[in-house]
Amino acid sequence: MKRIAVLTSGGDAPGMNAAIRAVVRTALDKGWEALGVRDGFAGLMAGSLVPLGARDVGGIVHLGGTFLRSARSREFKGAAGQRRALDALAHHEADALVVIGGNGSQAGAHALHAHGFPIVGIASTIDNDLHGADITIGVDTALNVALEAIDRLRVTAASHRRAFLVEVMGRDSGYLALMAGMAGGAEVVVIPEVEITPDEVASEIRRMYARGKHHALIVVAEGARYGVAALTERLPRADVGFDLRATILGHVQRGGSPGAFDRLLASRLGAAAIAQIAAGTTGVLVGHRRGDIVPTPLDEVIATPRRLDPALLDLAGMLAR
Ligand code: F6P
Repeated sequence: MKRIAVLTSGGDAPGMNAAIRAVVRTALDKGWEALGVRDGFAGLMAGSLVPLGARDVGGIVHLGGTFLRSARSREFKGAAGQRRALDALAHHEADALVVIGGNGSQAGAHALHAHGFPIVGIASTIDNDLHGADITIGVDTALNVALEAIDRLRVTAASHRRAFLVEVMGRDSGYLALMAGMAGGAEVVVIPEVEITPDEVASEIRRMYARGKHHALIVVAEGARYGVAALTERLPRADVGFDLRATILGHVQRGGSPGAFDRLLASRLGAAAIAQIAAGTTGVLVGHRRGDIVPTPLDEVIATPRRLDPALLDLAGMLAR
């Protein structure tokens, strides 16, 4: 019999609840016990662990956010914080820990595993910036939220012959912006991975105006060198033809109820994490790769930056004509 602890860390992502539920129920199915850690690594350091039964994770599969709550903890990054976390796990007689989260969270998981504690990570972040996962929990739902906003903005933009700058999240990654831009038919996409100056953005918009377009949508990743604030300041002076407006989607993208894709992905990843622990394979991240659920060593996950597929960049450019 094993006792498994589970926590969610970093930015919440729609589908995290479904992942917790899958971890708990597949662990119980093996005759194991499950513990929920409240407030991510901060709660782990504070020893905030509670037993979770099948009923405790009932009625949450459709809810966004994380019922265990999440946190960003500076203290956990230090050796003393990690020692406290390990002490709490020992005190609660946990045999393994499942960490549901993105980049920073998996770096935390990696650090604890380096101390010899069995850990399995589950790839979950709306940013889709984790090596070891083609698509992480939350991305699909966040994209659909962004897309709905973009579709609405296009309607009002076209009614007034306006150009809209729309900022989407993604931290240092342009994935969400690129995909939302491509799916939303954006005229221009501004992402950190491709350098584009405000003057170049202005001439792109001017070109769209000259072609007789009734609207222009410029999707901007929050991590781009020139974000919505910088572009808003510089573009009107460049006279782009269209009247300009700006919208920052921000955390709206994180709050949605998970769609079918994220619920199913989270369920499969939760079960896969328990299967890894049962097989004695820890120090790995479970992620969705090429249609399958596969483990990738946390060493590799932490050391390898996730890059945008250049073919997607080319396609987005070609379709925006
Ligand atoms: O990592 C997820 C994310 O939503 C990023 O896209 C964004 O940069 C960040 O979290 C925002 O963090 P916070 O919720 O702490 O403001």
